[in-house]
Amino acid sequence: MSSYQNLKVEVKDGICYITINRPDKLNALNRQTVQELGIAIKQAKDDSSVFSVILTGEGPKAFAAGADIKEFMGLSGEQGKEMAKAGQDVFQSIEDCPKPVIAAVNGFALGGGCELAMSCHLRIASENAQFGQPEVNLGLIPGYGGTQRLVRYLGKTKALELTLSAERITAAQALQLGLVNYVVAPDALIAKCVDLLSLIRTKSPFAVGAAIRAVNAYDGTAKGFNAELTEFGKCFTSEDIKEGINAFLEKRKPNFTGR
Ligand code: COA
Repeated sequence: MSSYQNLKVEVKDGICYITINRPDKLNALNRQTVQELGIAIKQAKDDSSVFSVILTGEGPKAFAAGADIKEFMGLSGEQGKEMAKAGQDVFQSIEDCPKPVIAAVNGFALGGGCELAMSCHLRIASENAQFGQPEVNLGLIPGYGGTQRLVRYLGKTKALELTLSAERITAAQALQLGLVNYVVAPDALIAKCVDLLSLIRTKSPFAVGAAIRAVNAYDGTAKGFNAELTEFGKCFTSEDIKEGINAFLEKRKPNFTGR
């Protein structure tokens, strides 16, 4: 495991817990933290003992209250674009991770924090979570994929309302809008994530990765359907499909290897 300045990373029972650890700054995502997130996700992806990832923020107040506003001071247009590109690339690597990544949203998920949660495959929020894209308050727009992923999750109508008004929404509203999968009491947050991951863990890891890639390819065009065809076909080359079918026919539980 690498050593991290701004993250806590721990592997337990096949789950890699990545915790953003700047609670006195409400886990604001400075460049260092974003870079470390990229490294931690890559390690989780490459570590065969890791089945899935839970991403959360240290402390009771914030998942992440956005990009670190102090780092915006004095940036040129080109530097601003480079900063956004670095963030987009890391967040894309989270979305592309073939192992399920859950955001355990334990408070403010604002700006880059909301964008980070949206780059995860699943989102479980505690009752005190708040979501929002407040960048226009600063003379900015979301730059870590928020303008695109928010539309994907909420549709253009609500995505524009949230992005233009900078209004925050509660966990209950986020649930109603389809931005999060579940809302639970703060002290039940990690347990709920573990429960959901335990269920997914009984499935074929090969198929789980294929499903993530196929669903990620959705863009409302034929590209998504073609990705589904490719991934469906690839499943037939796996050991897992043989095991899954044999187990079904032999009326036993499958013993998947992910190969
Ligand atoms: N970047 C840098 N520092 C941040 C931050 C951010 N996005 N969000 C919070 N912080 C820091 C504050 O500056 C403060 O640091 P200090 O104690 O050294 O002054 C600390 O975190 C605590 O924040 P504070 O504002 O005192 O907490 P609060 O409970 O009064 O308010 C928020 C919470 C989330 C409403 C408020 O911090 C906020 O609006 N943050 C910015 C959100 C934002 O615009 N994000 C998008 C950025 S593009």
